[in-house]
Amino acid sequence: MTPARVTVVEVGPRDGLQNEAAIVPTAAKVRFIEMLAAAGLPVVEATSFVHPAAVPQLADADQVLPAIARRPGVRYPVLVPNMRGMERAIAAGADAVAVFTAASEAFSQANIRMTIAESLEAFAPVLAAARAAGMWTRGYVSTAFGCPYQGAVDPHDVAAVAGSLAEIGCDEISVGDTIGVAEPDAVTRVVSLLLERLPAERLALHLHDTQGRAIENAAAGLALGITTFDGSAGGLGGCPFAPGAPGNLATETLVRWLHSESYETGVDETALADAAAFIRGRLAAL
Ligand code: COA
Ligand code: ZN
Repeated sequence: MTPARVTVVEVGPRDGLQNEAAIVPTAAKVRFIEMLAAAGLPVVEATSFVHPAAVPQLADADQVLPAIARRPGVRYPVLVPNMRGMERAIAAGADAVAVFTAASEAFSQANIRMTIAESLEAFAPVLAAARAAGMWTRGYVSTAFGCPYQGAVDPHDVAAVAGSLAEIGCDEISVGDTIGVAEPDAVTRVVSLLLERLPAERLALHLHDTQGRAIENAAAGLALGITTFDGSAGGLGGCPFAPGAPGNLATETLVRWLHSESYETGVDETALADAAAFIRGRLAAL
């Protein structure tokens, strides 16, 4: 029997590095991205065209993206919060973009200084421009399982925001456990509601391992038919809201587990480990 295929979306160069205190040199970022793509990851989120003062770690986005020797068949999405970011992304040669909002108003305000409704308004022209340019698009729903400011988040709010992102043109919606508080029952509840609005093929889970439950949570998503999961090589990006705690689920952990469960990912575990060791080494030297 052919094993089922799972798509692993690598977010280390963006979500990982933006949450590391040190600023990695541009050339090392480019090398890291190239190593990840060479390891067989089909999607490598490369950087972020947000305000450089908001995320100084990725202020070199305009230099990073054009410097990547791109592999055919690999997507390199970049984060854009507004039309200014979209203009920069287009100038740098982006082939895919990701917009990001939240399921909680408090987090949306703190992160992008917009209400959720305002963020959707800001993204509509971004997504229209992306479609006109033939780009693939992704939308993130942060704080889908809990918010560092408001606490509990209603799963219906998550489904509503995800539905809105799909309506305004996102090809894929990544639902994020930003602070790593999800547990399998919550994943089942949220994903079940999402599936009432969107097919599993358009959904991804972005899990954090803050409580060591990311794999159980991924299993709960897989059981409902989700086949796209985000990972951050080297577990890059400690949780900014829980000092000392792990943040993003490490791509190596995710891939190893998927392979042990007989899923196919196309990722070479040794090459992935090399990429993770490379960036860990560069961070340690800073
Ligand atoms: N890139 C570069 N500059 C930008 C920009 C972008 N994407 N968006 C806005 N700016 C500039 C504007 O040109 C303007 O410059 P000026 O004062 O010289 O005219 C200035 O920033 C203020 O613009 P404004 O639209 O009022 O933005 P803001 O200050 O309300 O900030 C965001 C809104 C979304 C741009 C900012 O909060 C942001 O980048 N947040 C990202 C947070 C993030 O990345 N979090 C992690 C991801 S989950
Ligand atoms: Zn994350």
